[in-house]
Amino acid sequence: MRKKIAVVGGGQIGQIVAMIASQKELGDVVVVDIPGYVNVVKGKALDLMEMAPHGNYDASIVGASEYQEIAGADVVIITAGKPREAGMTREDLLAVNLKIITEVAAGVKQHAPKAFCIVLTNPLDAMVYAFYKLTGFPKHQVVGMAGTLDTARWRAFIGMELGVSVADVAGTVLGGHGPDMVPLPRLTTVGGVPLAEIATKEQIDRLVTRTREAGTEIVKLFGKGSAFFSPAWSAISMAESYLRDKRRVLACAALCEGEYGVRGLFLGVPCLISGKGIEKVFEIQLTADEKAMLDKTCASVRKTVEETKL
Ligand code: APR
Repeated sequence: MRKKIAVVGGGQIGQIVAMIASQKELGDVVVVDIPGYVNVVKGKALDLMEMAPHGNYDASIVGASEYQEIAGADVVIITAGKPREAGMTREDLLAVNLKIITEVAAGVKQHAPKAFCIVLTNPLDAMVYAFYKLTGFPKHQVVGMAGTLDTARWRAFIGMELGVSVADVAGTVLGGHGPDMVPLPRLTTVGGVPLAEIATKEQIDRLVTRTREAGTEIVKLFGKGSAFFSPAWSAISMAESYLRDKRRVLACAALCEGEYGVRGLFLGVPCLISGKGIEKVFEIQLTADEKAMLDKTCASVRKTVEETKL
């Protein structure tokens, strides 16, 4: 029997998630959206079914507005919510998206209580925390998609700057999904060569800044809405690792309970995603400077999380 992937929110990101999940034959896909948008998601689902002969994939893709349609889902990918607009911070979104996440959490808790849940809605660190609190799901079952995207951006910018294949750029980005996230140049390599040996300090500083501002760079270009291709594929990488037990190590917003000296917050940290969900959080020995940056991003995350009052 095929696996089942539920995508809650069939907008910009959700539609790409549905497309890649189908193309990769991760399973059947159901896209849930609000009643006022259900015909659009039904149309998108049908369009994807009609793309299958070219994409050469077998999957059932449907749109729905009722949460019972997600029953039995192995993975739930949550993209429901308003995206940022130019001039807005992710925090500006908090009140409006908290209301949406509250509704989504109730639906997922009732109809897919065993699913591995990947939250994308911004402000990410607060929304994944809220979803965890509201569902009461175990911590290995709930994760936020942020670091996987931030790391993809870091790798992409290094590839572009140095003229090398992104496939050979390895590294990670820790912390919250905001401007004080912590890319780790010290631990980044290009085909095994330390980044600091092939890039100047100025280049590295520029890459760090661009990575931190990457979401905003795209928001400014769009004027309305935020990035969707890379966020969608980042969520797929996480879902695939779970569904196929690939045991990938990806930067994810996972609940920290003492790791990095952090307790009770979802923070971007390297995680092993297996068929069991978040199987392990890896702790990196940080330098004093890196630790100071992590403390700063933690303080920002804590402040946003406190605003949820959960
Ligand atoms: N239940 C289900 N779907 C909902 C709900 C809800 N309660 N409320 C809103 N939606 C749907 C919208 O109807 C829309 O189709 O969520 C979808 C969001 O799509 P977009 O507006 O295109 O936003 P997108 O760019 O996909 O971003 C979604 O992810 O990265 C974050 O900041 C981003 O919070 C935003 C989210």
